[in-house]
Amino acid sequence: MEDWLSDYLRRILTARVYDVAVETPMDLAGKLSARLGNRVWLKREDTQPVFSFKLRGAYNKMAGLSPGQRDCGVICASAGNHAQGVALSARRLGCRAVVVMPLTTPRLKSDAVRALGGEVVLHGDSYSDAYRHALELQASHGYTFVHPFDDPDVIAGQGTVGMEILRQHQHPIHAVFVAIGGGGLISGVAAYVKAVRPEIKVIGVQMADSDAMVRSVRAGGRIPLDEVGLFSDGTAVKQVGEETFRITKALVDDFVVVDTDAVCAAIKDVFEDTRSVMEPAGAMGVAGLKQYVTRHEMKDQTLVAITCGANMNFDRLRFVAERAEVGEEREALFAVTIPEERGSFRRLCEIIGDRSVTEFSYRISDERQAHVFVGLATSNRAEAAEIRRALAANRFDALDLVGDELSKEHVRYMVGGRSALARDERLYRFEFPERPGALMRFLSHMPPDWNISLFHYRNQGADYGRILVGIQVPPDEKADFRAFLDNLAYPCVDETESPAYRLFLR
Ligand SMILES: Cc1ncc(COP(=O)(O)O)c(C=O)c1O
Repeated sequence: MEDWLSDYLRRILTARVYDVAVETPMDLAGKLSARLGNRVWLKREDTQPVFSFKLRGAYNKMAGLSPGQRDCGVICASAGNHAQGVALSARRLGCRAVVVMPLTTPRLKSDAVRALGGEVVLHGDSYSDAYRHALELQASHGYTFVHPFDDPDVIAGQGTVGMEILRQHQHPIHAVFVAIGGGGLISGVAAYVKAVRPEIKVIGVQMADSDAMVRSVRAGGRIPLDEVGLFSDGTAVKQVGEETFRITKALVDDFVVVDTDAVCAAIKDVFEDTRSVMEPAGAMGVAGLKQYVTRHEMKDQTLVAITCGANMNFDRLRFVAERAEVGEEREALFAVTIPEERGSFRRLCEIIGDRSVTEFSYRISDERQAHVFVGLATSNRAEAAEIRRALAANRFDALDLVGDELSKEHVRYMVGGRSALARDERLYRFEFPERPGALMRFLSHMPPDWNISLFHYRNQGADYGRILVGIQVPPDEKADFRAFLDNLAYPCVDETESPAYRLFLR
């Protein structure tokens, strides 16, 4: 074994982390294992006192400082989790901690640092801005800088995660999947694993829009990125460390790059097995593992993903839930073009049949054709192609929108607007119990004589499905329409005179 690797092994074996960190469990992810046909273990770093592994490295570094250094206080720059690790360690060691965080830091994380006694300075738009400001403060105040990843003591502290994995699972392991930001966690884990059980693969996982390490390793030198995506704020690093780059390049076997939808799906997978909600960086290992299994057609292997953080802003859950289905390929999205004529709406519904509808939006806009935004629950990508073929066989053109950011992020919320064709339109909100097939049952109760000129439904996972329907009722058929509503089993509210309807839709 090379000297530098045995030096890291010694540092990891002697790292001081358990004054603040706990030995986290390794949990078998039963459902995910069954779905993937492999044994998937989760190393639950989300269960640390600050909900991420970051306190291991921070504490190991700070515990090794001289009393004089500690008396001067420590400073760090962090987008969140490292800051909490530093603040908790400072409290434990009885020293002052100044934490510079970018202005974009989720409130959850800055509040958590304050609650631990850390002095928060909000500065700049990115981690790099905060980092520069922290260095200035360090120079002017004499604080000791605690780097979030590029420091052998920090790396060694994170390496204790690898040590625990091998101790907790002494049977064969094919690979360990590790999220990479600056590279501290993977460097520590890879150092321990390669020193002790080099046959185990260490696979790095990065976000497609924050892949500085992957690019750097491929280029053979550190590549700075101009911009990084912020969805996974824990791993949004523009430039990886010198030491972490050197170790990762030497020891990491392979890399997987994942996108936002895949991470959202992984958050859901982890939730289904553990009932815990990961932050995006915390689920990246699982997203990478899934992609790797598919790419290499793996079966019956033992795989470990480090679930490395759970500091999730509650508001972000809405986005995650929205994207998880698409990321998991459990939702197909189409723009279906149907002839603007009576009965074609119903024909479309017949083709959809008993499938679970996740979204259905339409606004009359053309005399000849109607474009309907349709979301359907599917069990895999092949099913989406099957639905498309069924639609085509009925001469309904369907454009697949699953990969289309514009549609997923904006257009789905914008189907509608005013229409000169919506003569005699009445607008109603209906409610019906949300269960598979309920939307189609509702539609089949609609009499064919009245044209539907507007339709909006989105499955919100609630108890009742809420839909908005515009129906064209000629003045002399109002009485019939009233009778139809009275007979309908679903409660409804007439919104035809509502101000919002007048302002935006009529
Ligand atoms: C939850 C989480 N996962 C992964 C990482 C990436 O770790 P590293 O910068 O050591 O690569 C971080 C970094 O803050 C994190 O907070």
